[in-house]
Amino acid sequence: MRERLARREFVRGALCAGMARMLPSFPPPDTLRAHAEARGLLVGCAVVPEKLRGEPIYAETVAEQENLLVAENAMKWQALHPAPHRYDFAPADTILAFADAHQQRVRGHNLCWHQALPDWFHSMVTKDNAKQVLTEHICTVAGHYAGRLHSWDVVNEAIEPKDGRPDGLRKSPWLMLLGPEYIDIAFRTARRADPKALLTYNDYGIELDTPEQTEKRRRVLDLVRGMKKRGVSIDAVGVQSHLTAGEQRPGNGLRDFVRELRKMDMQVFITELDVSDHKLQGAPAERDKLVGSLYGDYLRMMLAEPNVTAVLTWGITDKYTWLNHEHGRSDGQPQRPLPFDAEYHPMPAFYAMREAIDARRTT
Ligand code: G3I
Repeated sequence: MRERLARREFVRGALCAGMARMLPSFPPPDTLRAHAEARGLLVGCAVVPEKLRGEPIYAETVAEQENLLVAENAMKWQALHPAPHRYDFAPADTILAFADAHQQRVRGHNLCWHQALPDWFHSMVTKDNAKQVLTEHICTVAGHYAGRLHSWDVVNEAIEPKDGRPDGLRKSPWLMLLGPEYIDIAFRTARRADPKALLTYNDYGIELDTPEQTEKRRRVLDLVRGMKKRGVSIDAVGVQSHLTAGEQRPGNGLRDFVRELRKMDMQVFITELDVSDHKLQGAPAERDKLVGSLYGDYLRMMLAEPNVTAVLTWGITDKYTWLNHEHGRSDGQPQRPLPFDAEYHPMPAFYAMREAIDARRTT
């Protein structure tokens, strides 16, 4: 027992010091990361730089379990571009340094979105300067990380059929300022600034077979087809995958969508997976089982498709899930949507992820 504890302390010390490659068996064989690497898959989560620096068990879990990281907030405009002529890369750079120390890849999230814009944006950006502001931001940010990122979410959540436009585009500030062309501008600029990152269109609400989500998927395919026709390079679609237990499950519509993208040579990333339990009653252990079963069904279906090459959860521990802030349970109990609970114990979702990864064909 004393030996095991001593080894654990040694491993933790080495991980925190970024010396993973010196450890005898890294990643440990029972981790998501080890199982994914055996199958050539990327598995990851959204991270918060302050926790990587300040909470050893958080850092240790992320180092052991993941080989792909994405900033939950640290690469958004609000965080990186606090004043018109000032950028602050320090917190986001922490993620890159952590990833380098633990042989992990990093995704960028995101270069163009209707949310998380800094306050100055609304008072200073006009139709006359919007193109310059957008391209300058993308050149600076994608340029800063050029050659180091696995992929960029270049445009996030640009489609919203409910907004009632004939082209299905969201009435975002970017659309109002620049028209539909803003999407091509963003992708072309990103490609120039970082020729190596896989350029991704990322969206939510495209997982289920409801009429709304079926329509949204159709619009995403139209968008990708249109971009390809216009010679705008795009490599991947991110399916966010914020799912809810106790409602309709993803099915054939999403599977066909992934296959359609494959015909266009597009990869698919599961970019923000979590399973909200706010519709479930019962004791935590019963809810956890249902959450885990949705993880398993979903990932088995998606990972059977060869162009699905990466799976990221939106956080690693229930302790910090965004769902408690935006979709709290009506009984006031905390949500349990992620692979590790608030004390960093593996949940049924963790085991379901690992089994689904194991079921992935390697050929
Ligand atoms: O950092 C400030 C802090 O200084 C301040 O005291 C506090 C007071 O509200 O706010 C903090 O900022 C919050 C930030 O999260 C960091 O915690 C923002 O208010 C809050 O709006 C922000 O929410 C994030 C949201 O995107 C909007 O950017 C969530 O954490 C993040 O999980 C969520 O992630 C999005 C993806 O980017 C896109 N897909 C959907 C997903 C979930 O909404």
